[in-house]
Amino acid sequence: MANVVVIGAQWGDEGKGKITDLLSNSADMVVRYQGGVNAGHTVVVKGQTFKLHLIPSGILYPSTECIIGSGTVIDPKVLIQELDQLDALHISTENLLISSTAHVTMPYHRLIDQASEERRGDHKIGTTKRGIGPTYADKSERTGIRMIDLMEPESLRKLLHWTVTHKNAVLEKLYDLPPLDPEAVIQEYLGYAERLRPHVVDSSLRIHEAIRQRRNILFEGAQGTLLDLDHGTYPYVTSSNPVAGGACVGAGVGPTMIDRVIGVAKAYTTRVGEGPFPTEQLNEMGELLRDRGAEFGTTTGRERRCGWFDGVIGRYAVRINGLDCLAITKLDVLDELAEIQVCVAYDLDGERCHELPTGARQFAQCRPVYKTLPGWQQSTADCRSLEDLPAAALNYLKFLAELMEVPIAIVSLGASRDQTIIVEDPIHGPKRALLYDRAQPIGLRGEATHSAAIRAIEV
Ligand code: GDP
Ligand code: IMO
Ligand code: MG
Repeated sequence: MANVVVIGAQWGDEGKGKITDLLSNSADMVVRYQGGVNAGHTVVVKGQTFKLHLIPSGILYPSTECIIGSGTVIDPKVLIQELDQLDALHISTENLLISSTAHVTMPYHRLIDQASEERRGDHKIGTTKRGIGPTYADKSERTGIRMIDLMEPESLRKLLHWTVTHKNAVLEKLYDLPPLDPEAVIQEYLGYAERLRPHVVDSSLRIHEAIRQRRNILFEGAQGTLLDLDHGTYPYVTSSNPVAGGACVGAGVGPTMIDRVIGVAKAYTTRVGEGPFPTEQLNEMGELLRDRGAEFGTTTGRERRCGWFDGVIGRYAVRINGLDCLAITKLDVLDELAEIQVCVAYDLDGERCHELPTGARQFAQCRPVYKTLPGWQQSTADCRSLEDLPAAALNYLKFLAELMEVPIAIVSLGASRDQTIIVEDPIHGPKRALLYDRAQPIGLRGEATHSAAIRAIEV
């Protein structure tokens, strides 16, 4: 049995969808534990592209149970569109379960997200405008609507009447927007409730039962470490906890149930939205990375900002998430380059700085210190083992592993499942990978925990 958390180690869009889909072959259950329809996870299987916002990437395996956990926020309209799209492609969604305690994104959340971004002017966050922040804010304020509320029409009617009237005051008085018709909102959401009802369960209990049956569970993070509300580059963050610790809270499992944590990082860095980005390349190099990496947002279509790999952020992600290993994606995007830069430290007020500063102002002033490595200038798209890689590409990976003091277990060289090198089975292999022989593994438990139920990863 191995329960594994997959997280983004940068600012999101690292390729978590591809890696989760790949690892789902060894999983009996996949759980999304935070975020909402701000996420866009792309999975490419046999030339067909799936863009998932809320439904876990494990859905493409017919026998894998998929759970949208308690820590997520659910926009039922978008979720139903996603269900319809999968149905149209004959992908079964029977195994999809939705937490009864997940919070629901309402029309006023989307309107407030959009209006507050406009009001912020130069201080805007660059949100996806999907109502994520306002939904989580209501959850904290204890005025949120949960999936369980949607399941009870009579009390929902009363609850929504009060809430919509209350939010109308905010829309009208604070943002000069027209009020919503409470009855129209009630009717719309009662309709969604009936469609989603068969999927709504006590998800923490289902996960607990699966754990007791020693089934393999994958916890799929959305967004990334630097977008974490507590540990990211605040205030330019999302409103949930994408870090590995968020999996316990968002899924409703104890930390003792997690066996492994896998970080996903691109071979370079991207960011969508506002906020400091020390290694950003506002030049031809940034454009080249955007073109070769097709760096346009899955959810909003916005251009992603592009830059070099940032080892300070990488080390931070290893620390904050307790990473056991990394999956490095999009190595192929660097194929053409004669030279590649990696940020190994920052220069902050004339001092060399190896750790991410906690202050937003200090982070904005960090200047990257680069190490230049030779490129390989040949295609890696067809490489299927470390031996197939050009020497310079292998050196690049070894450099990253040493810089971050974490093994690299997976290397991805293209969007499809087969464009992958499994250096070491990250779920069932030893807690020590080949590329970096870590002297002091973070995990304290022995190998016995992971020896049962070995299922090879087939791509
Ligand atoms: P996520 O949000 O972390 O799941 O990542 P996204 O799906 O938003 O963005 C990653 C993009 O890169 C998607 O379009 C993937 O299909 C694509 N992708 C994933 N891995 C690779 C890779 O190794 N090489 C290339 N060229 N594309 C990849
Ligand atoms: P996946 O799961 C990249 C960014 C937004 C914005 C900030 C806050 O595909 O990696 P929000 O709408 O969450 O309040 O926006 O977070 N953001 C993402 N960036 N990938 C994502 O998800 C993101 N989800 C939110 O661009 O900067
Ligand atoms: Mg994405």
